[in-house]
Amino acid sequence: MKTILITGANRGIGLAFSQFYAQQGDQVLACCRHPEAATDLQQLAEKHPTIQCYQLDVLDRQGIDDLAEDLADVTVDILIANAGIYGDKPEHPFGKLDYEAWLRTLETNVLGAVKTAEAFLPHLKHSKKPIIAAISSLMGSIADNGSGGSICYRSSKAALNAAMKSIAIDLKPVGIGVLIFHPGWVQTDMGGPNALIDTATSVKGMMAEINQFDLSKTGQFIKYDGTPMPW
Ligand SMILES: NC(=O)c1ccc[n+]([C@@H]2O[C@H](COP(=O)([O-])OP(=O)(O)OC[C@H]3O[C@@H](n4cnc5c(N)ncnc54)[C@H](OP(=O)(O)O)[C@@H]3O)[C@@H](O)[C@H]2O)c1
Repeated sequence: MKTILITGANRGIGLAFSQFYAQQGDQVLACCRHPEAATDLQQLAEKHPTIQCYQLDVLDRQGIDDLAEDLADVTVDILIANAGIYGDKPEHPFGKLDYEAWLRTLETNVLGAVKTAEAFLPHLKHSKKPIIAAISSLMGSIADNGSGGSICYRSSKAALNAAMKSIAIDLKPVGIGVLIFHPGWVQTDMGGPNALIDTATSVKGMMAEINQFDLSKTGQFIKYDGTPMPW
């Protein structure tokens, strides 16, 4: 049995990770901003007692440290930095950018993910095969950007990729792996109903990649099915 910590575990991709890890008998530390309002997650936790819910807003860096301290005795095998926001709005293209929204996007998608990984480093170090999975996006790829726009989101995921690549190199000597995922275009609140795949396809694919991981693959930017993504 492994222990998986997931941010943004109450809906979308994070909820699906909670479901499928719990279904295979793993312990899930399901973190979300408002556990009391997370009805889908609560129902899942009633069915699967290996799910424990914790309050965590990734914008609250002190809160992340506090949770890491509360869970000081817990080994984390897989940390899934999943919480994220899109940030961009059609009414704020280049020329009318909303800088507060941009900052919030960077703080959530980049600092939130990196801070969670940093705070839980001691917990990962106790694992035999520790992995940080950063849920990024192909929209963070500079090489793939053929359509422009989405400045807040694209820049946040590009920055997340840069940070996680460095963290992969920094942590390789201590045996902690990092995978950077494009989860696909997924049917969630963020992905919308026209997205190409459901959460099960995306998450089961990423779980298979995490399962097959070895340190020679650390720092790779890959799609949910293992296809390498351009930087
Ligand atoms: N869906 C796609 O097609 C797609 C494609 C590429 C990448 N991604 C990435 O996949 C990840 C999950 O996206 P999704 O599609 O599942 O989106 P989603 O359905 O909109 O869910 C986003 C999750 O992030 C949480 N979150 C947002 N801000 C947070 C904060 N400050 N602290 C803690 N949790 C926070 C949300 O919690 P609340 O309910 O409290 O808001 C929610 O649980 C994101 O990083 C996203 O960028 C998604």
